[in-house]
Amino acid sequence: MSESVFLAETDLAARGVPSRYPAWLDVLQSATGLFLALFMWGHMFFVASILLGKTAMWSITRLFEGYFFLGASYPRLVSGVAACVFLVFVAHALLAARKFPLSYRQYRVMRAHTRAMRHEDSTLWMWQIYTGFSLFFLASAHLYQMLVWPQNIGPYASSDRIWSDGLWPFYLLMLLAVELHGGIGLYRLCVKWGWPRLSRGLLKKLKWALTAFFLTLGILTLAAYMKIGYEHRLNYGERYHPDTLPQWLLPFAPSGEFSDPPALPPAAEGKEA
Ligand code: HEM
Repeated sequence: MSESVFLAETDLAARGVPSRYPAWLDVLQSATGLFLALFMWGHMFFVASILLGKTAMWSITRLFEGYFFLGASYPRLVSGVAACVFLVFVAHALLAARKFPLSYRQYRVMRAHTRAMRHEDSTLWMWQIYTGFSLFFLASAHLYQMLVWPQNIGPYASSDRIWSDGLWPFYLLMLLAVELHGGIGLYRLCVKWGWPRLSRGLLKKLKWALTAFFLTLGILTLAAYMKIGYEHRLNYGERYHPDTLPQWLLPFAPSGEFSDPPALPPAAEGKEA
């Protein structure tokens, strides 16, 4: 391609002075992507608390609603977090959309090149496009639910949604898309910004290890919600409330919510001594 054609096609000729603007957009895209990937790691561990039991998940949910430090539950706090994540998500999607193929023709050319080159990083980039595109819809629907009905989160409420409301295939698809997208995205960030300074081969191994770990955790978590939802199907709509909390957590619960554990009768106390 001659220089003049290149300049015309990339619109550089019209600009005259080189601009830093595209570089800043790239920095922003990386920063929003990093934020979302780190959020997803935290999110997966919180959601996976169901594997430790219903009371563990209930406590984590209430923690985010301020129950253990504000004296009552305020699900709107969760809406606030969901709104912030939504904003970052939309910004990230907008910034990423600059790089999407703009027509079917462009897409065909890109796919043909990727197949012909057999270049693994280009193939990964194609997967980034597929999974990113599906997340436009999947993550938006999920975030909207969390934003508007934050009170419907909990061991039974979440399990009812996943089993009785039939959302488990939706979560399975979103899990696959988000873990592949996040893993590839983090790998590409490392290659792009040169940190940590490891070989591409090693970075790729790390990426697959992380993806395998979070996918396994995610599938086990989804299975746990499905099982609880199935067992709870006849009591759909009922909310979980633990009878008591672990001893170390009780002092943080609003007073009067959980009765203190029964004191040992005096005779028993004597025997103990
Ligand atoms: C503040 C924002 C968010 C909140 C409060 C939240 C909360 C939850 C909760 C409570 C669940 C359990 C199922 C349910 O109750 O419906 C869940 C599952 C899930 N969420 Fe989110 N989420 C948020 C943002 C996101 C985002 C941005 C993504 C990805 C793009 C995401 C991906 C997933 C996936 C894949 C699952 C299924 C996990 C599994 O079952 O293994 N979430 N989320």
